[in-house]
Amino acid sequence: MTIAVLGATGMVGSRVIAEAVARGHRVLALSRKPGDGDPNVTPVAVDVGDPEAVREALAGTIATGTVAREVTATGTVATGATATGATAPGTTAPGITAPGITPPHPPDAVILSVRTLPADREFLVGATRTVLDAAARLGTRVLVVGGAGALRSPGDPDLPVADNRAYVPDEYRAVALAGTAQLRTCEAHADADWVYLSPPAELEPGERTGRYRRGTDTLLTASDDGRSWISAEDLAVAVVDEVENPGTERHITVVHRPST
Ligand SMILES: NC(=O)c1ccc[n+]([C@@H]2O[C@H](COP(=O)([O-])OP(=O)(O)OC[C@H]3O[C@@H](n4cnc5c(N)ncnc54)[C@H](OP(=O)(O)O)[C@@H]3O)[C@@H](O)[C@H]2O)c1
Repeated sequence: MTIAVLGATGMVGSRVIAEAVARGHRVLALSRKPGDGDPNVTPVAVDVGDPEAVREALAGTIATGTVAREVTATGTVATGATATGATAPGTTAPGITAPGITPPHPPDAVILSVRTLPADREFLVGATRTVLDAAARLGTRVLVVGGAGALRSPGDPDLPVADNRAYVPDEYRAVALAGTAQLRTCEAHADADWVYLSPPAELEPGERTGRYRRGTDTLLTASDDGRSWISAEDLAVAVVDEVENPGTERHITVVHRPST
């Protein structure tokens, strides 16, 4: 698959890219200052505040000067990043002017995993709408890595986690509410094919165990210590699993799963 990750340099986005590449997927790495280096990762500098740039990046019409594309004998398309922008061996796809990138098809999925510090609700809502609009036009599925605040409280479905001090201290309430506004933006979008993944309450870099428990719209806690947490590495596993095998629910969450 080809997977676009918007927020490529972030805690979550960088791990999603590592996970996707390890599974053999091609990745479009989108952020304002994407790094480069991995031949399976195509960096594309784009500001999500610029809807036209996002559309072009996802449609593949931005020339990066770092990517060569090759059409195989079977008609499938392989991508190889080069340091020089030289064209990869093989036949260049019709319409491509090297150096540059004009993929003949959009990515199979877009992961939206951006945020600002401090939290900016308008930015998040605008970015989400922009990506949903562009993806809907391209027929590409969107997975939004959102916030735990948009979940229901365990044992109290009418209490949003954003309003639950057991999980969201006052200083994080604005962030949590921004995540809820982001979910509402998805729900209000008439055309896009999206899934909103709420992390558990705590999300930090850690170990990749490859294990997690999946739920829908209610916050989960781990069965061993009762904490609502997962490593960013295991969240990335869940993200790529969902992209590879989409479920039917639109709002999902995951939590750490102990080994026994
Ligand atoms: N427990 C929870 O609910 C929880 C905890 C942590 C994170 N999260 C969520 O997970 C998601 C990812 O968070 P994170 O921790 O990975 O964030 P992060 O480490 O702060 O990374 C943010 C990413 O957004 C990109 N970005 C920011 N502004 C941008 C713009 N204008 N245009 C394009 N890209 C832009 C940044 O790249 P550039 O600077 O290069 O543009 C960076 O790649 C967010 O939705 C966050 O709210 C949830």
